[in-house]
Amino acid sequence: MKEDILVTFAYAKINLGLAVKGKRSDGYHELQTVMQTIDLYDTVKISLSGSGIECFCGGLSGPRNLAYQAAKLFRERLNSRQGIRIEIEKRIPVQAGLAGGSADAAATLRGLNQLYNYPSSQEELLQLANQLGSDVAFCLQGGTQWAEGRGEKLLPLAEAPEMSLVLAKPQQGVSTGEAYRRFDQLGRGHLLSFQAWEEALQSGSVEKIALLLSNDLEAGSQVILPVIAGLKEDLRKAGCYSALMSGSGSAVFGITHSEDQAQEIAHSLKQKGYSVWVTKTITP
Ligand code: C5P
Repeated sequence: MKEDILVTFAYAKINLGLAVKGKRSDGYHELQTVMQTIDLYDTVKISLSGSGIECFCGGLSGPRNLAYQAAKLFRERLNSRQGIRIEIEKRIPVQAGLAGGSADAAATLRGLNQLYNYPSSQEELLQLANQLGSDVAFCLQGGTQWAEGRGEKLLPLAEAPEMSLVLAKPQQGVSTGEAYRRFDQLGRGHLLSFQAWEEALQSGSVEKIALLLSNDLEAGSQVILPVIAGLKEDLRKAGCYSALMSGSGSAVFGITHSEDQAQEIAHSLKQKGYSVWVTKTITP
């Protein structure tokens, strides 16, 4: 092994579109979703030392952390007994629909593969990712992707233009499982059009992209946490092109006309007690 320590970024995602097609016999839901990497990240430091696996992440430390499970899976696959130490500096909020835990797991798989001198292909890493969670595969690939299945079958879309975003989260989060259960009770889904998304993204027009934003999980998550609807309304009234809840929530993003506008809106939302970030879409 060349190096035994590595520091990498684990980027959050938003869902620009999310349609629930139906419930499967394994309990998961069949999706169509447009996923996008954003410039909000955790820092993941991985070192090869000792013999066990350690994962430090504040209150999310230990074996239940998805990054710990990623390291365990990676090591088992290679029949390795190498000790692994993971330290995560969290910035991505939890229970927000931003795939923070999945991003850390993906960064751990990618980082370990580098530290071990690339024993696994991207295809093999994607297989491990799918054993860990529905969003881990996207976090490995990143950029702008169409996803189907439970979110793990990826197809690249035209890269989204750089869009300024204001992202806000109520104090309370939403559990992903609970959001899907609420969706089942309400039971209203709409399909997305791959062609419409590809055309809007290819045009590079923020207006066209903003017109397509939709999320089938929003109505259910708003029943769990009514403040989500108010937050979305605040973002729209403040002059965003459009606003949408990401994933199963509770974070909501607004697409703004400029970074300055995002800063202004962020300032007023902070005063209302939300956690707020000014960020943008990126292709890592
Ligand atoms: O795959 P992941 O562990 O992130 O999913 C968390 C929970 O969200 C699942 O246990 C399931 O209840 C729900 N889920 C779903 N359909 C999906 C993704 C997640 O029902 N496509």
